[in-house]
Amino acid sequence: MGKRMITTEVLEEDIKIEGTLRPQTLDDYIGQEKTKENLKVYIEAAKQRGDVLDHVLFYGPPGLGKTTLAGIIANEMGTHMKVTSGPAIEKPGEMAAILNNLQEGDVLFVDEIHRLNRQVEEVLYPAMEDYAIDIMIGKGSSARSIRLDLPRFTLVGATTRAGLLTAPLRDRFGVIHHLEFYTEEELAAIILHSARVLDVEVDPEGAREMAKRSRGTPRLANRILKRVRDFAQVKYDGRITREVASFALDLLEVDKYGLDQTDRLLLITIIEKFAGGPVGLDTLAAAVGEDAGTIEEVYEPYLIKNGFINRTPRGRVATELACCHLGFALPTSE
Ligand SMILES: Nc1ncnc2c1ncn2[C@@H]1O[C@H](COP(=O)(O)OP(=O)(O)OP(=O)(O)O)[C@@H](O)[C@H]1O
Ligand SMILES: [Mg+2]
Repeated sequence: MGKRMITTEVLEEDIKIEGTLRPQTLDDYIGQEKTKENLKVYIEAAKQRGDVLDHVLFYGPPGLGKTTLAGIIANEMGTHMKVTSGPAIEKPGEMAAILNNLQEGDVLFVDEIHRLNRQVEEVLYPAMEDYAIDIMIGKGSSARSIRLDLPRFTLVGATTRAGLLTAPLRDRFGVIHHLEFYTEEELAAIILHSARVLDVEVDPEGAREMAKRSRGTPRLANRILKRVRDFAQVKYDGRITREVASFALDLLEVDKYGLDQTDRLLLITIIEKFAGGPVGLDTLAAAVGEDAGTIEEVYEPYLIKNGFINRTPRGRVATELACCHLGFALPTSE
């Protein structure tokens, strides 16, 4: 699964370039206009008051720029960012130590925050609310809790699964933003910017073609740019035109909607084996030999969002667009 060229989760090959491609300021950050505008106001206001920024939660699919925004916040506030993640912290004491080591105004970035365990999460409640932690000392009947003040800080949480966040944690964020998929224009702009940084020659049509197949996701856009660059270099004169981009992406089997073999297999199965649907998720999963949860959370969202699959009470249905795109006759309607 992780090996899909079009996965939007981070791959080994992304890590090296992501560092250099990450925008550092809100002005350089392309897209997510609403989020950006709001953050600008909050940051400006906090700075004017000499205050720390309210805690911020970003949620949305992988690769849309949550980590990037956390870094930008620290940068714009002129402070440092400490990075950790939900699964990395096992004990309440570890969280207490991290908090205690922060400096006034620091940004603490907690990635995959929905994966914090309950006891660790409880350390965050007073920390977020009152900039304090409660520590138990002593044992048995002499045990008592003392309150330790913390420097004021900003927690920036990120999650791909906002539904898994507990209400008490969610309520403690003053600012909550959902990141959206990017438009083709925005992705093309990101690609052109990355191309300048990586010193690759890309013409606007080439950028457009790559943007179209990037599934609304900057991380994938950058990965595609890097892969296509290799083709351009070896098979052509290095410049990425529309022709080069199409050629390379066809070879990589990423089609003009950004679908790969797995997506197509799923659609073809619904169309051929189940007469276009409706077919239940479990039946479909068994037919393609994939886990139902993976289909639901990894494959399906993009297909549903782009109108290839409809979810109905009786199961999944392949749409007209899916049939046309894959060259099937439309299922005869009742
Ligand atoms: N708005 C943007 N403008 C330019 N580049 C961007 C933008 N958003 C993201 N990127 C690029 O995409 C890459 C992935 O973004 P980022 O790591 O912030 O995603 P994420 O939402 O944190 O993903 P995950 O859920 O996997 O942690 C970044 O390295 C950056 O190069
Ligand atoms: Mg991230």
